[in-house]
Order: sequence, then C-alpha cells, then structure tokens
Amino acid sequence: MDKIVPGDVVIGISSSGVHSNGYSLIRKLIEVKGLSLSSKAPFDESQTLGQALLMPTKIYVKALLPAIKKNLVKAIAHITGGGLTENIPRVLPATHGVVLDANKWTLHPVFNWLVAEGRMSASELLRTFNCGLGMVLIVGEDKKDDVLEIIQNSGEEPTVIGNVKLINEGEPQVDVKNLKLPLLHPIKTRRKVGVLISGSGTNLQALIDYTQNPCNQSSAEIVLVLSNIPDVEGLKRAERANIPTRVLSHKGLKRVEFDRAVTKILQEAGVELICLAGFMRIVSAEFVKTWQGKILNVHPALLPAFKGMDAHKQVLEMGARITGCTVHLVEPEVDAGAIIEQAAVRVEVGDTVETLQERVKVLEHQIFPKALELLASGKISRGEDGKLIWHE
Ligand code: GRF
Repeated sequence: MDKIVPGDVVIGISSSGVHSNGYSLIRKLIEVKGLSLSSKAPFDESQTLGQALLMPTKIYVKALLPAIKKNLVKAIAHITGGGLTENIPRVLPATHGVVLDANKWTLHPVFNWLVAEGRMSASELLRTFNCGLGMVLIVGEDKKDDVLEIIQNSGEEPTVIGNVKLINEGEPQVDVKNLKLPLLHPIKTRRKVGVLISGSGTNLQALIDYTQNPCNQSSAEIVLVLSNIPDVEGLKRAERANIPTRVLSHKGLKRVEFDRAVTKILQEAGVELICLAGFMRIVSAEFVKTWQGKILNVHPALLPAFKGMDAHKQVLEMGARITGCTVHLVEPEVDAGAIIEQAAVRVEVGDTVETLQERVKVLEHQIFPKALELLASGKISRGEDGKLIWHE
C-alpha cells in the first residue's frame, strides 16, 4: 500500500452484472414493482429478471494471477458490497484518492434500472453496487501497458479508468466524474385501466408487459381484467401478473343490462379507461356514452376497411395485398371511432386466416400499448366532434 503514489494508474475490469451485492434492495424493488424472477428483465428484454440477476459473479483469479506473480500490480480492490466508494479506499493510503472517468467503462443497464426504479442517488449507487466494474487495480504508470496486455491475454478487456491523486483532509477518496444516470421522472399518478376480454388475451399480455415494465414509466395501470367467458387464458395471464379479475357472463342478460353491470364493476374498481382486447361483444350505445373518449379497441384490419367480424377472411376474399390493425376510440357505430394507431402488413400469396392473424397480432401487440399510453398520458383526447385532439 505504501508504494501507491499520485499519478498511478487505475485499471478496471468489467463485472457480469450486480454480482452478489445489493440484493435486499433488489428484492424489495421486485416486490414493490409486482415483478417476479420469471418476468422479462425490464432493462434487457432478451432475458428474464432471474437470468439477469443470478448471472454468476465473475471470478478474476486467472486474469489477475500472471500480473500479480510478476509483481506488476500495486493494489487490487474487489468491488463487492460497498461499491466503488467503499472498496477502493481499502487499498489506498488515507492521503490518497482516485479520480475515475465513468466515460471509460460501461454502466451495465441493470444499474440504470436500479437507479430509476429505486430512485437512487449517484452516491448511493456508488457505495452499494459495482457499477459495471468487478475489479479495480492500481499500477505504476510504467507498468500500465504490461498489465493491460497480460490481462487482455486472459480474454478480459481491462480499461484505464483513472488515476491516483493526493487529497486534502475531508475530501472523498473516490471521485467519479461523468457518471451519467437516468433522470428520475417525477412520480406520476397513473390512469386506472380496465381490460375487457373474451379469450386468449395476447393483446392483454402486451398491455400488461408494457404498463408493468418500470422502464416505460407508463401513465397507465391495469387494475382489473374482466371476461364474459370463464376460464379463458387471458384471465390466467392477469392472475400471473397479480391483476384482479372478474368473470361476468352475458348469458341470460340483455345487452344493456350486461353493460350496466360491467360499468358498475369497473367503476367500483376505480377504472378510468377501458381497453377492449378481444372482447367478443358489441357494446351498447349507453355504455359508449358513459365511457365516451375513454374506450379503446383493437381491430385486426386497417380501418375503415374491413370492419366487423372475420376481418382477415374479408381481406383474403377481397384479395387485398395490404392489411394490418387499428387501435381506435370506440363509438356507438362498430369500428368507426377515431383512429389512434395503425400498422400495416403485406398479404402474401398463400396466406390463410391463421397466418395472417399471427402476423397481424404481432403488430397489434406493438400499437395497442402505444395507443393506450397516448390516451393515458393525456397526449390525445376525443374532441366534441368525435375526432382526436393531439395535445402539444
Ligand atoms: C385480436 O385479433 C384483435 O384484433 C381482436 O380480437 C383478437 C384478440 O386476440 N379484436 P387476443 O385475445 O388478444 O389474443
């Protein structure tokens, strides 16, 4: 330790993720956000939260031993609990500190998520997590190139991240420059959404995934899923996402009676906006009036073409070469409300209702959450004439 002098070089080696630190906070965050280890990682959709968070801690012995044996390294700090701010000072004389340039390494995306959702300050992050660096070495300026080369030979990508400096009494020993963290959004009140379904609920799933992903900071929160058919897959999807469900059979009820009962259930749950996501019923004019400008529907065609049932069949019969999907406001006339989002797909020779439906649904899952977000965030509203008003 006594060999460390100002001007020495600080070398960092990347971590594979959070390693084994900060899990009390991470567990709490998962609980509060209603996530589970099998949820998609909000910061990396290619893996589950479990896969990302349980990524094994990197072991650095093989990478470091050759340089240590050659006596090229002055000090090593393993960045564990205590992060950069508490671990690096353990190898420094009290009179010395390090200045690190965060532009020189990559902050693993998991840390951006932790900051945004845990509403963590930079100093909290730096004293709890490795911030993307699992190991930090201090070497003399003259040994820097040798050490970098030896570690590179092990397959690691060491980076010079800063220097040692003398510090005044009371000055922090770790000074991290250029740490760019996500801006913390003000906590917003979310519009409560009820989703009405009758079946498989793949659109519901897309809405759940979008609104529950903390990275999206969605203005919408699904508070209830109601189905007119019992035991459908969509209800299971809601249950898995911890969203309350209701089943209300339409059998034996007049349309208006059923719709009034639905309105009562939705109002009791505090619902402000409704998504019809494969709800195989035509809603009454009274229902539309009660919820005017607050109901969205996804239709599997490019409206105003191919309204009503069997849209894909109509498309194929017509020989249309382009179709798609539409999310629109619901008006008393079926499939006639203001269009909010659309996406198109080519009809291929040999397409069947099933193949078309499959490709169109992929697009439905993209535009439905987008349209809901526009309405929930207040970026759009329904004008008196039924047309959309775009705000800002
Ligand atoms: C979708 O094709 C949608 O366009 C239509 O109903 C279907 C619902 O599918 N309104 P899912 O239940 O969301 O899988």
